[in-house]
Amino acid sequence: MCGIIGYIGPKNAIPILLNGLNRLEYRGYDSVGVSLINQDELSYLKTKGRVAALEEQLKEKRLQGNLGIGHSRWATHGQPNEINAHPQFDCQKELALVHNGIIENYTSLKKWLKQHGHRFCSDTDTEVLPHLIREYYQGDLLLAVQQALHLVEGAYGIALVFSKEPDKLIVARYGSPLVIGVVARGEYIVASDPTAIIDYTKQVIYLDDGEIAVLTRQGMKIVTLDNVRIDKKIQVVKWNLEEIAKSGFPHFMLKEIFEQPKTITNSLRGRLLVKEKDISLGGLGDWLDRIAKVKRVVIAACGTSWHAGLVGEYLFENIANLPTEVEYGSEFRYKQISIDPSVAYFVISQSGETADTLQSLRKIKQGKGNVFGIVNTVGSTIARETTAGVYLHAGPEIGVASTKSFTSQVTVLALLTLALARRRKTIPLKELESRMIALQKIPQQVASILKQHKKIKALAKKYCRYNNFLYLGRGYNFPVALEGALKLKEISYIHAEGYPAAEMKHGPISLIDRQMPVVVLATDTEDVIYQKVINNIEEIKARQGRIIAIATEGNKQITKLVDEVFYIPKTNGYLTPLLNVIPLQLLSYYIAVQRGCDVDKPRNLAKSVTVE
Ligand code: AGP
Repeated sequence: MCGIIGYIGPKNAIPILLNGLNRLEYRGYDSVGVSLINQDELSYLKTKGRVAALEEQLKEKRLQGNLGIGHSRWATHGQPNEINAHPQFDCQKELALVHNGIIENYTSLKKWLKQHGHRFCSDTDTEVLPHLIREYYQGDLLLAVQQALHLVEGAYGIALVFSKEPDKLIVARYGSPLVIGVVARGEYIVASDPTAIIDYTKQVIYLDDGEIAVLTRQGMKIVTLDNVRIDKKIQVVKWNLEEIAKSGFPHFMLKEIFEQPKTITNSLRGRLLVKEKDISLGGLGDWLDRIAKVKRVVIAACGTSWHAGLVGEYLFENIANLPTEVEYGSEFRYKQISIDPSVAYFVISQSGETADTLQSLRKIKQGKGNVFGIVNTVGSTIARETTAGVYLHAGPEIGVASTKSFTSQVTVLALLTLALARRRKTIPLKELESRMIALQKIPQQVASILKQHKKIKALAKKYCRYNNFLYLGRGYNFPVALEGALKLKEISYIHAEGYPAAEMKHGPISLIDRQMPVVVLATDTEDVIYQKVINNIEEIKARQGRIIAIATEGNKQITKLVDEVFYIPKTNGYLTPLLNVIPLQLLSYYIAVQRGCDVDKPRNLAKSVTVE
């Protein structure tokens, strides 16, 4: 999720671009850049780091012009550095372009462009766009943009300027947001969202997918890729800055919970090849075949990422028949154990900076082991030090409590499981295909759960005053019980514990009384252990426990046994963690709000624990 800004009008563009980039920094900021057109000259400045670094450098290298574009980057392809920062250019550095999104077919486009003599400097997917537009340019910039975008697969929000047509700012969107601020006729500010615009105007036009806008000092034209003219109405922005950054949600955590249909889609994008009955994990390359041959996997992680790793253990063992151990980073790093080169080691981390996970990674490398990353933050320390890895593509996670990164981690682990199972031939192709189809449906099923958020909100109102909770699950849902308990603990400060449901009789059941609500994950009725979960519910009921069950749609039997039921859609058992966790995230969020807690910045916690 990057930040895009552009300006055309009578004013000096730099102050407007910088103000916009500062407003957009919450969208990601590993590197920034600007490019301006002055008469028919293109100038630019890019740097790794935050907008402040760019402002410093602009004091030395003053850029002039009243037409320009800018970008704050959240890397998806290519390390965060000056070369990979946007704007990206054509060979002649006469066309500058900034982009938010992922070009899925950039590898094939780059190969084709190289065959046509284009020279590339960066590792980004974005760089294919200015070269492609230039390849088609024969005197009409808009036509060249339309022809180029017809070849692009994936998501984009782009803004571009060209020194050979120095009176135009062109923007286009497909899958990534773009807003046009109408300051006056012939004066426009474009941005990824209105936070960068409302200091100058609240009159905006939201571009829709497949639309291109040509902005000049004489006016504006909006057309489709096929050059059909479109009339769009001007809207008035009613939100303040903070509300816009949160897309109108009261907290980043709730925004990120509701982002999950999109972020899971992004984690699957270009990787779940249902037609080919295969999985593509480009970041692992040839390592995938080698990992498929190992005898054992060890996963090291912390907190929510450790819970995701635990789901991975069940996935790897049940479906790929691959023995797996999951270690807390803080414990593994001090273990007196030799690193086994025949083992595939994985580290999982949203931030890519967690000290205990990083030290575990370094222990493995010191022991000459191969360690693979499942990381969200591109270019983070952990990502850079792993042998190879898979990025989540979940975008920046601002809320301290991990939500979308957990479901993206589990999504990547599910993809990896299917890739390994295919290579190890542990499941028939027909089963592989049905598991892939089930995975493909997850984003829309998550969306259907989120539509019922008001039911969870009502549950939260009813149970927000209790001071102890138990969370129970079995199999794939034992890690989800742990994750649900952690969510509640960390943002509402309620004591909550997760257990394998069968563990109740080994002690915890002595805690059960009317003051101890128990959340039970009782989905996947076809699973052999479902009846065992029902037995556990009966045991709790017999001791006056209050039971909140997460159950599969259509399961009427369970309503007679429990106090509350929240239904989720039916899916293949191995994917239930991706659906069951959603109501638990919402329950912890709404209870914390009811208790007046600081949801995005809970006491004593940091988003990334870089200390030991
Ligand atoms: C989970 O909600 C917490 N934010 C915390 O447990 C977190 O998962 C843990 O600190 C690991 O962080 P990482 O994924 O960035 O390594």
